[in-house]
Amino acid sequence: MRILGLCGSLRGGSLNAAVVRSAGELAVAPREVVVDPGLGRLPFFDADVERSALPGVVAELRSAVGAADGLLIVTPEYAHGTSGVLKNALEWLVGGGEVDGKPVALASASPAATGGDRARAWLAETLAVMGARVIPRELRIPRATLKIADGRITDEPTRAALARLLDDLADAAAEARAAGGSLAC
Ligand SMILES: Cc1cc2nc3c(=O)[nH]c(=O)nc-3n(C[C@H](O)[C@H](O)[C@H](O)COP(=O)(O)O)c2cc1C
Repeated sequence: MRILGLCGSLRGGSLNAAVVRSAGELAVAPREVVVDPGLGRLPFFDADVERSALPGVVAELRSAVGAADGLLIVTPEYAHGTSGVLKNALEWLVGGGEVDGKPVALASASPAATGGDRARAWLAETLAVMGARVIPRELRIPRATLKIADGRITDEPTRAALARLLDDLADAAAEARAAGGSLAC
């Protein structure tokens, strides 16, 4: 069971990258969380480029998403929305269709008390349009600077909540597999 972790922040000390990293630590075989090397390597979406010469990094991302049983998408909240980095990646993924039917879990970490709620809501709407199966459980991490240190989640209740999110995502992926729906490629 392969879960692909995507992070919407490029920042070195990113709280949200720490969530994806912690998911990798929590995964136990045969489940694995593979962390995407960084959405910042993607060029800005351009429909002309998509039509004429798809960049290799975009093809790699589409392939990785297609091959994953599920996606863990972790977003920062910027100006009450998700990041441009993540929105750009999703724009490249619209045309490939790999997200259609794909089980997706959403998480967000913010220093604020709102925990990135608005960014996740925003993402859920975009992903629904793309046909993703966004699972009902989400993970919000408010006051995240108190729960994350040295690039990983240190707060035990938050780690447990992340483990439950991964369990639900794995269940959704197994259901999708049984239904013959979303497995790749
Ligand atoms: C331009 C900008 C806009 C932000 N807007 C919000 C916001 O609307 N809501 C929020 O909770 N935090 C906001 N923040 C704070 C981010 O949540 C915080 O910087 C967070 O650490 C970013 O995620 P990262 O640690 O994964 O990079 C904003 C930060 C920046 C730089």
